Amino acid sequence: MGGHDLTATTAENYRAFALEAAGRSAQYERLSTEVADDDTILSFLARLPPAKRQPNLLFAAARYLLGAPPELKSLRSLVADRGDEMASVMRSRRTQTNEPARCATLLPLLAMLPGPLALIEVGASAGLTLLPDRYSYDYAGHRVQGTDPDAPVIACEPRGPVPLPGRVPEVTWRAGLDLNPLDVASDEDMQWLECLVWPGEEGRLTRLRAAIATARRHPPRVVRGDLLTDLPALARQAPGDATLVIFHSAVLAYVDPARRGEFAAIVAGLGAVWISNEAPRVVPADVGATLAAASLYGNHCFALMRDGRGPVAFTDGHGAWLDWLPAE
Ligand SMILES: C[S@@+](CC[C@H](N)C(=O)[O-])C[C@H]1O[C@@H](n2cnc3c(N)ncnc32)[C@H](O)[C@@H]1O
Repeated sequence: MGGHDLTATTAENYRAFALEAAGRSAQYERLSTEVADDDTILSFLARLPPAKRQPNLLFAAARYLLGAPPELKSLRSLVADRGDEMASVMRSRRTQTNEPARCATLLPLLAMLPGPLALIEVGASAGLTLLPDRYSYDYAGHRVQGTDPDAPVIACEPRGPVPLPGRVPEVTWRAGLDLNPLDVASDEDMQWLECLVWPGEEGRLTRLRAAIATARRHPPRVVRGDLLTDLPALARQAPGDATLVIFHSAVLAYVDPARRGEFAAIVAGLGAVWISNEAPRVVPADVGATLAAASLYGNHCFALMRDGRGPVAFTDGHGAWLDWLPAE
């Protein structure tokens, strides 16, 4: 997701992002294609470290400075007239899109586990996906009531034999881990999260604001740390009388491909339930089966996996649908 393939050229990443944005954000689909052919913007990006050249980061930084989503003209002027300021926002910020609707794709798996649950989310950003029990859900008319009556109702289209839960699971302990936790109490951090939403997806913005209000009522604890080094210490803090679940979504793409297997080995060694919701190509375990099955949606989906085994479902990258695979 996010045109973030460190093995591809910058122009290729912008073209890939245009495909991802198609049908969701006409403005970013067009802009991304234009940037892929724009020498001024490409040479600005070339002066940044490779991990800082992503479309999502460029567009969100421009939106942050302009106060509105960029078009090619405003983006070119920004890069030409305020290039240092742009580079500084891009160097200090990260693509930390926190999409609460991803909880709707995790919920059926979470609800199957023996409760109560202790949740650890690695790559938690502001912790909005650490609150799956607070939100309510609408799976094409199948409603699930969350514990906070003022929290948003997340709509998700079920496809295939989704085991829709009757209720949200009981969560007695939760913590997130992130290289750079965002603070739900900080207006500046929350403004950055809003800038990461694409124009044309105003429904996401409304939901994000409602989820932020929910998180401000129940602030999730997100600890600063690296999933490659700091997970075991956090897992040791979890209570022994709850099912420990370690989960992540839209995170492994940001981890060096050579080290993703290391992370899988760390999680496997912790004896927890492991739930992964990631683009198929970045998942280390059972890659063959995952990729074969991903031919259904290409790379424009996430694979939902439990304990490193082949996928149980494919999910929309922003949680809009959940396609459960029939049991073999
Ligand atoms: C795209 S956000 C996803 C946030 C959330 N999981 C969700 O689904 O909405 C990815 C997050 O992973 C974090 N991250 C990336 N690499 C990490 C690492 N090595 N250790 C911990 N967090 C990491 C980033 O800082 C960012 O907040």
